[in-house]
Amino acid sequence: MAESYSENFTTEESEMVQKLMKKSEEELNYIDTICGRQVGMLLKMLIKIGGIKKILEIGTFTGYSAMMMAEALPEDGHITTCEINERFIEIAKPFFDREEYQHKITLIEGDARETVPSTKSTFDLVFIDADKANYLHYYELAKAKLNPNGIIVIDNTLWGGEAIDHSSEKGEIIDELNRKITDDDTTEQVMLPVNDGITIVRLK
Ligand SMILES: C[S@@+](CC[C@H](N)C(=O)[O-])C[C@H]1O[C@@H](n2cnc3c(N)ncnc32)[C@H](O)[C@@H]1O
Repeated sequence: MAESYSENFTTEESEMVQKLMKKSEEELNYIDTICGRQVGMLLKMLIKIGGIKKILEIGTFTGYSAMMMAEALPEDGHITTCEINERFIEIAKPFFDREEYQHKITLIEGDARETVPSTKSTFDLVFIDADKANYLHYYELAKAKLNPNGIIVIDNTLWGGEAIDHSSEKGEIIDELNRKITDDDTTEQVMLPVNDGITIVRLK
């Protein structure tokens, strides 16, 4: 109940992002893997407040969070977003090719465990939202690609409560990551119980 109440009091997605959500739902019959309005809007706020220009996203799905973030970026800002699933890429591409997004979004197809290390850039914000089994690995990749004063934003750090009670393997992995981040003397972090849990990490 608190979740939908808070969604109702969070700024709505743009018309184009709403079109993407509708198209994704029609094509796939589900869109519950998108990060959702509160996380999307939080990302937009962080980008605008932090003057963020270069973003890496690990886990595009059909493009909801990439389009949300692109809308918050200045004209010379850029997102590199990584996705492995061709079906999702097919849905995302026509939206990313639109005039308002094309100069801001580059989609890298393939396994992020291989594509991220081969990107030459470093980033002001890395958004981790791909397969949970590899979250520990993505965290290390993100840290290596982060600019000074950059932030890492990690979605699903509660994993439906399973990170707390260890009722699944993915929950255990996410709890391991949460502990690793907390024990890391080189970072400071905040975990927010927004949607499925979101953690923001910055290098000290
Ligand atoms: C939770 S969804 C991303 C949602 C998206 N960030 C949003 O808010 O709209 C996770 C995505 O990660 C992708 N993925 C899973 N494993 C991957 C990998 N090894 N490399 C790249 N993408 C991967 C999945 O195909 C899926 O589309």
